[in-house]
Amino acid sequence: MSETVSTSGAAPAAPYGGTRPNAEQKRKKVTVTRLAQMRADGEKIAVLTAYDATFAAFADSAGVDCVLVGDSLGMVCQGRSSTVSVSLEEMRYHTQCVAQGLERHGSTALLIADLPYGTFHQSREQAFASAVVLMQAGAQMIKLEGGGWTVEIVAFLTERGIPVCAHLGLTPQTVAALGGYKVQGRQADEARQMKADALALEAAGASLLVLEMVPAELATSITSQMKSCATIGIGAGSGTAGQVLVMHDMLGMNLGRMAKFVRNFMQGSSSIEGAFAAYVAAVKDGSFPNNEQHAW
Ligand code: KIV
Repeated sequence: MSETVSTSGAAPAAPYGGTRPNAEQKRKKVTVTRLAQMRADGEKIAVLTAYDATFAAFADSAGVDCVLVGDSLGMVCQGRSSTVSVSLEEMRYHTQCVAQGLERHGSTALLIADLPYGTFHQSREQAFASAVVLMQAGAQMIKLEGGGWTVEIVAFLTERGIPVCAHLGLTPQTVAALGGYKVQGRQADEARQMKADALALEAAGASLLVLEMVPAELATSITSQMKSCATIGIGAGSGTAGQVLVMHDMLGMNLGRMAKFVRNFMQGSSSIEGAFAAYVAAVKDGSFPNNEQHAW
């Protein structure tokens, strides 16, 4: 396939998604070191899910710091009713698609990929082997859901050079055991346990910690106790070091009832890239989430 040759200095036209011009890279490449610096400087971290090359490249050029290939793809891409049946091979495939999209467009964003259910639960060795599959597909950080029992897995991975994002609160892979998509950590004992788990995960080397559907007070308190690990909230108020949303939700593309903590960034934007940029701006200036965008 030959691309149209440009005579004007503009980027050549290319079919099937096109080729982005090499935009001047004013932003710094996002690495684990840069994330730690952003946390220390109080610069909010904007994370967004993406599952294919084109959306990932647009998210990156809109200024998203981290692109997450979430196992939410089971629900938003595959139409399943939960994330539980997403396989490692499916995660590998989508991670590779996103990695190729980001690489081809000279991206800045850091690529995080989810370890799906059942691929890290048996042993540290199983977790390492699964993480390697995603790292070799292009991930730069691995996310895994779970509390205290994951601490030794996180240590095992980070000691072997795999950056880790932990995930506490509402953990969708175990939604059956949690009795539904409910706020977590309301009770004093649950909140105490979550704080202890967060500190242990940080000590085990986690670089990021997703806090999902957690009361704002608790998320803010955990955030203030962290020394190096940056908290990323979803339905956890505005006191975390960053925010994450599922891309389809923030584009208003939800076939059911939209979670209360989501904002539709297509409202007021004339393009998807504009909606991504509005999300990044709102995370960075602290205007998302506001007092109405919460999970409780
Ligand atoms: O799978 C996913 O997209 C996630 C985010 C909602 C944090 O875990």
